[in-house]
Amino acid sequence: MTPHIEAKKTEIAKTVIMPGDPLRAKYIAENYLENYRLVSKVRNIYAYTGYYKGVRLTVMASGMGMGSMGIYSYELFKFYDVDNIIRVGSCGAYTSKLDLYDLILVENSYSTSSFAKDQSNYEDNNIKSSRVLNEVVKECASNLNLKLNVGTIYSTDVFYNDNPSFDIKKLNEDYNCLGVEMETYALFNNAKNLNKNATCILTVSDNLVTKLETTSNEREKSFTSMMELALESVVRLEKERGD
Ligand code: HPA
Repeated sequence: MTPHIEAKKTEIAKTVIMPGDPLRAKYIAENYLENYRLVSKVRNIYAYTGYYKGVRLTVMASGMGMGSMGIYSYELFKFYDVDNIIRVGSCGAYTSKLDLYDLILVENSYSTSSFAKDQSNYEDNNIKSSRVLNEVVKECASNLNLKLNVGTIYSTDVFYNDNPSFDIKKLNEDYNCLGVEMETYALFNNAKNLNKNATCILTVSDNLVTKLETTSNEREKSFTSMMELALESVVRLEKERGD
């Protein structure tokens, strides 16, 4: 048990799939897992542990924002001995080249957040994901015939940005940001700091250039490609460990 997770240590698997939304965690458990159990529900941040194609895994929500992701991913890595976290989330696209529901594999998170500096005195605005996990995700995407856009995401602390100098075009063109979300930089920082593995798969839920967007109901239910990619990646990862 930790301040924010009530599961026993043995009730959390070594690999965790982390959506932001607790209802998406519930959806993944109910639609994909066998013999699953709700192992934590503190603050309604649901964690389910069960089996997918015979492989034991946990699906747990991170909540929104780096503060929330920072807490849960740290407790999972540090106190539950979790080895791998794959975040599955949504993002706003910063380029008209990306359509709604396109998939992004995040190789690099760019952020101006103070999270990494405050947490571990890490001064770089860029933090990379796990190469090992990324290779597994890329291979599974190819097997599932899914197109992955691989690159950098902008991780922000601010959803409603009224700052006149905020510049999407600059973030896209100068920092190569494909889009924006709010959790990955904290996850990658914690993984780096604690010598663990993390990566992130995102589905484009809105496009900040073309202004196209999905509804919250669609967002909750329709990201099946991303969920299946994450689940298959966990199976593949377990196979590689066993080889
Ligand atoms: N901003 C931040 N995070 C997001 C967005 C956005 O526009 N869309 C999905 N996640």
